[in-house]
Amino acid sequence: MDLPPLPIIEPFRIRTVEPIKLTTREQRERLLAEAGHNLFNLASRHVLLDLLTDSGTGAMSTEQWAAMMRADEAYAGAASFFRFEEVVQDITGMAEVIPTHQGRAAENILCQVLLKPGDVVLGNTHFDTTRAHIERAGAEAVDLPAPEAEDTRSAFDFKGNMDLDRLVADLDAHAGKVPLVIVTITNNALGGHPVHPDNVRAVKEICAARGIPMFLDAARFAENAAFIRRRDPAWADKTEKQIAREIFDLADGALMSGKKDAMVNIGGFAAVRDPDLARRLRETGVVIEGFPTYGGLSGRDLDAMAQGLREVLDPDYLDYRLATVRYLSRGLEEYGLPTVQPAGGHAVFIDARAALPHIPPEQFPAQALACALYLEGGIRGVEIGTLMFGDAAHGDLLRLALPRRVYTQSHVDYVIAIAARVALRKDELRGLRIVRQSERLRHFTAELAPL
Ligand code: F0G
Repeated sequence: MDLPPLPIIEPFRIRTVEPIKLTTREQRERLLAEAGHNLFNLASRHVLLDLLTDSGTGAMSTEQWAAMMRADEAYAGAASFFRFEEVVQDITGMAEVIPTHQGRAAENILCQVLLKPGDVVLGNTHFDTTRAHIERAGAEAVDLPAPEAEDTRSAFDFKGNMDLDRLVADLDAHAGKVPLVIVTITNNALGGHPVHPDNVRAVKEICAARGIPMFLDAARFAENAAFIRRRDPAWADKTEKQIAREIFDLADGALMSGKKDAMVNIGGFAAVRDPDLARRLRETGVVIEGFPTYGGLSGRDLDAMAQGLREVLDPDYLDYRLATVRYLSRGLEEYGLPTVQPAGGHAVFIDARAALPHIPPEQFPAQALACALYLEGGIRGVEIGTLMFGDAAHGDLLRLALPRRVYTQSHVDYVIAIAARVALRKDELRGLRIVRQSERLRHFTAELAPL
């Protein structure tokens, strides 16, 4: 007798439940039209499985809720801040910790302090909010992804890496105009791929030789460390915490959206080594985020983030996390939807250009696929492609992001079953055109119409 395969075992029990409900196809047709074919405009009660983002959508643990009850809500010098500061210092090794209400607020402060018009900021792949802050400061954001990332089907394990040859060439071409370089771990925009420590070290050495600081966008630092431990035998004997620390040790500073690997619904921070830079960041932050020991957050938020940062480094949690993404990726592949390989840490990215070759990029193939998954089964994903990045897009991907500790294997099986039904009739899908759009971050608010 063949034994049944072991399912993914979610390393938690569920003690609070939130009902979800499927709408009818007729309702979804109407809702989609009312939303201007932009899934950001849907009310979440009209979504069955919400894979729009892994950002701020996770479930908190019993210990996080307990920590929130212990919080200190003092305006200045709250105990919650000092607990938070200690955890961030322990993980990053950086002395100066500046809380912010989320990741983009840390980007905002850093860009206001370090950038001036005409500057150039190089990165492996800037996230859209980082790009927007850089451009708002009058500077240019340049992506230098590793050449291996171009082939979405190849098996290279560290497609999040930066292209070192282009880094050197661009630093020479823009000499004197690059105030910082940002390495995003994991590389969200390209597929949630990890960055190898050797690549981070090389970037650091290249930058240091020119006196340029290297920052990390550490939104998914724990997933990055988990991949390194599981994909490179040379790192297998280290803990995720040790691996993460070795990477942080290379950086001059870090920005983090706590809504990802700090397992909270809101929060973020900047951490730096240079006390003078920290002073300037705090001076800018106090105007837009609040006093430096709360940074736009309540004491509760800071305590929840401190506890979440500890929990995210649990290897059992990280096993479950990576296994779930891999399982979804394999399931979609089995039913004919090509996904970016290897599977990333927080999401599966369907290659919509490959899946829907009859829809050209300017007709937003990934958005067409996103709408189709919603119509078929009430699933909400997000386009990462021409709608989000315009001409700077590296491809047209539909990202199905998994909130942390929220969905079970049977939820993922449902996604696979719905996607298989869409895949069967994918030749019938049509592209979209933009009816209305904003100047920056247009994907959040644009309205579209089917062609
Ligand atoms: N950096 C990365 C790599 C991100 O993925 C995000 C957010 C941010 C910075 C900004 O952080 O949202 O806290 O202001 N990514 C979300 C996503 C929105 O869906 O990927 P934030």
